Amino acid sequence: MERIDLLVTGIGRLVTPQGNAPRCGQQMKELCEITDAAIAILAGRIVLFGPAQEILDGLAAVEISETIDVGGRMVTPGLVDPHTHLVHGGSREHELALKRSGVPYLEILAQGGGILSTVRCTRAACEQDLYVKALRSLNEMLLNGVTTVEAKSGYGLTVEDELKQLRVAKRLNDTHPVDIVSTFMGAHAVPPEFKGHTEAFVDHIVNEMLPKVAEEKLAVFCDVFCEQGIFSVEQSRRILLAGKHGGLIPKIHADEIEPLGGAELAGEVGAISAEHLLAATDKGLAAMAKHGVIPVLLPGTSFNLGLAKHARARDMIDRFELPVALSTDYNPGSCPTESIQLIMMLASLNLKMTPEEILTACTINAANALGRGEDIGSIEVGKLADLTIFDAPNIAYLPYHFGTNHTFGVIKNGHVIVW
Ligand code: NIG
Ligand code: FE
Repeated sequence: MERIDLLVTGIGRLVTPQGNAPRCGQQMKELCEITDAAIAILAGRIVLFGPAQEILDGLAAVEISETIDVGGRMVTPGLVDPHTHLVHGGSREHELALKRSGVPYLEILAQGGGILSTVRCTRAACEQDLYVKALRSLNEMLLNGVTTVEAKSGYGLTVEDELKQLRVAKRLNDTHPVDIVSTFMGAHAVPPEFKGHTEAFVDHIVNEMLPKVAEEKLAVFCDVFCEQGIFSVEQSRRILLAGKHGGLIPKIHADEIEPLGGAELAGEVGAISAEHLLAATDKGLAAMAKHGVIPVLLPGTSFNLGLAKHARARDMIDRFELPVALSTDYNPGSCPTESIQLIMMLASLNLKMTPEEILTACTINAANALGRGEDIGSIEVGKLADLTIFDAPNIAYLPYHFGTNHTFGVIKNGHVIVW
C-alpha cells in the first residue's frame, strides 16, 4: 500500500459485528470492540482498522491524503434501514383523531382512508414533488446515521404511478450519498378501481406491472402485504413467484395483525426477509429459520398503532436462532418517523433486545436483509467505508438516552458527508 485517501483517528471506541453473514441467536451479542482505534480508507473502502498505534506504525511509510480526528467518539458501521415506504405524497395527520378514538388500522383502510388516502396523494403528485418530499426524509435518515435505505413503491397501484415512485427512488439513489435499494410493492392495497376484484388486481400486478418493473430494472425486491382482507397467502404466493420469475427477490409483510401463514410462505418461496411478524406462529418462525429468512422487526409500528402486542424478538433470537434485523418502516400511516435511533429505544423497551443485539440488527443483519452483507453492515477490510460517528460513550447509550439524535458525523463511501 503506497497511499491512503483518509485516515480516521481519535476513535474512542470502535464497535462492529464481524463478517458478512447474518448473525443468528447468540452471535448477535458478540461484537468486536476496540478502544482507541483508527481506520484507513482507500478508494471508498476500508483497507485497515485496529488499535490506533498499530495502524499508525503500519502506515509510517505511506502517503496519507487526509486525516480526521473524531475526538474520542464512538464509531460503528453506517446504519442500514431495510424497510421504508420512503417515496409517497401527502401525510395522514387528519387520521390521528380517528386512530385515537380506537378505529383499527385495517378499518380506516376499509373505509377508503389509510394507505388509500396516500395512494390518492401519490397519484396526484408529480415526480419532482415526490422527489423533494422523499429527499427531506432521506436527509433526516442520513443525519440519524443511516447510510443505506430500502424504499418501497405501493402508493401508486397503477403501472404508471408505481413506475413513477420507483423512478423517484432511482433518482434519489443517483443523486444522494445514501444508497437506496428499491422494492416493488404493487400488492400494498387493492385500489378503488379494483374494489371487490382482488383477483383481477393480482392478475394486473402479475401481467402488467411486474414485467414493466423488471424490464426497466427499477427494483431488486418484490414485496406483498399478506394480511387478512388485503392479499391472501395464495395471492401473495402468486405475486412473489411471478416476481421471482422476473428476477425480483421476494420480501413479505407477514403476519402483522392475523396469523395468516405469511411467515410459512416466506420460507416456502425463499424470501430474503419477512417483516412485522407480530402474530407469526412457532411453525412460521421455524419455517423461516429452516430457509434462512431474515425477520425484519418494526417496533415503531406496533408502538405507533398503540398495540399491546409486539414481535417476539426474544423467541426469535433465543429459541429459533433467527438473525433479527430492525427498521423504521418509515411511512405516513403506521410509522411516520425517520428516526432509527427511536427504533433502537423501542427495540430495547418493547422487544427486550440488548444493545449488542440492537446494533447487530441495525447493521449486518439489516444489510443481509437487503442482500448487501458482502459490502456493508460491518467494519471489515474490503467493505465500503460507511461509518457512523456517535457522540455517545458506548452502544448502550443509544437506546438509553432517547428522543435525541446522537449522530455526530457520517462517512459514506470514504467521504465525510456529515460533520
Ligand atoms: O408496513 N402494512 C402495510 N404497510 C405499511 C403501512 C403503510 C401505510 O399505512 O401507509 C407498514 O406498516
Ligand atoms: Fe411496511
